[in-house]
Amino acid sequence: MILEQLKELEQESIKRKVPIIGPEKGRWILDKIKQFKPKTILELGTANGYSGIILASEGAILTTIDTSPHAVQEAMANFKKFNVTAQVILGDGVKYVEELLTEKAKFDLILLDFANKEYIHVLENCIKILSKNGILIADNIDLPGCKEFKEKIQVHPKLNTEIIKIGNGMSSSTFK
Ligand SMILES: C[S@@+](CC[C@H](N)C(=O)[O-])C[C@H]1O[C@@H](n2cnc3c(N)ncnc32)[C@H](O)[C@@H]1O
Repeated sequence: MILEQLKELEQESIKRKVPIIGPEKGRWILDKIKQFKPKTILELGTANGYSGIILASEGAILTTIDTSPHAVQEAMANFKKFNVTAQVILGDGVKYVEELLTEKAKFDLILLDFANKEYIHVLENCIKILSKNGILIADNIDLPGCKEFKEKIQVHPKLNTEIIKIGNGMSSSTFK
């Protein structure tokens, strides 16, 4: 099973202080994917591809973006190792979501796991590019940079939001 196969990358990431979601959040995301069966997934914040490997493990088409050339390179190597076909983009997640909006792209699942202070700036655009039955997941929402985002998703007129108390928190939002 994928989380066991990821043990080595997990250990290496801890050693090198690569801020991956880790196995507990990874297990929660995997369960969500098994439940919702998304066909298309967008991830903002690739790092070394740890979460991307989990996101793509049930056959979804993954698009993932990171500002770090080194992260993109590492993720591509790890995706190859795990036979993951993904579109890995080097760039800014905020700008990329704006582009996706003009292209009228749609995603069944979006994972926000990048610069915390930017979550609030991509929220409305992510809602627009989310499929009708889509799910918006955000990591690290208990961090100070996510305060406004965390408040907004819980009172947003379009969203039903669940807060998941694992580590520094996650959120999961679907349409009302
Ligand atoms: C917490 S890590 C991602 C961890 C990864 N999702 C995982 O669990 O394996 C955050 C990543 O976001 C990237 N990042 C920071 N600002 C960004 C931005 N504006 N757009 C895209 N990526 C960004 C960082 O380079 C870093 O690799």
